[in-house]
Amino acid sequence: MTSALTIMKREHLSLNTVLHVLNQLVLDLESGRLRSEDVDYELFEKIMSYIEEFLDTMHHPKEDKYLFPALLKKTSEANDVIMELQEQHKKGVEHRQKLEVHFQAMKDKHPGQVEKVIEALKDYLQAHREHMKLEDNIVMPMAERVLTAEDWAPIDEAFNQNQDPVFGDVPKNKFRKLLSDITFLAPAPIGLGGGRKGS
Ligand SMILES: [Fe+2]
Ligand SMILES: [Fe+2]
Repeated sequence: MTSALTIMKREHLSLNTVLHVLNQLVLDLESGRLRSEDVDYELFEKIMSYIEEFLDTMHHPKEDKYLFPALLKKTSEANDVIMELQEQHKKGVEHRQKLEVHFQAMKDKHPGQVEKVIEALKDYLQAHREHMKLEDNIVMPMAERVLTAEDWAPIDEAFNQNQDPVFGDVPKNKFRKLLSDITFLAPAPIGLGGGRKGS
């Protein structure tokens, strides 16, 4: 069985790839290199599905349900950071929904939506980068330090059920396909550059 820590780190790597693609969209829209009518909406709908169905439905809830309670039980040192992370998980869903609304409005050619999409994307990127930094640099090292093999057993079990779509040992076909589509459609250097029109 792969350890939950290894799985979480791999899932963060996948999320970083997706964030990198979104960051490229911000840069292209902001500089005017990419017009809203030339955006690859298929690619970004796949990204939104990945975020909704994998990150918000599997990754974050498993942290909330298994890792965080185990840490809270073991040390009060974790209290503040875990409360903050739980709050960020909730806000992450709201950020995604806001992004989807503006994205759809931009696709429907409503005026002023490019700026709204840029703003929502920037908020999303900043929040998730900060979130992963807290988990990677504070929570995971703390968990490695204080949790015993017995504490890890149910956490490992839970995370092995949502193996990462790209790097996991037992990838779930749906998410693997979604992420391979995202990386294929994404502009170079992430993908094969097949997805961005007008470049
Ligand atoms: Fe998280
Ligand atoms: Fe995480």
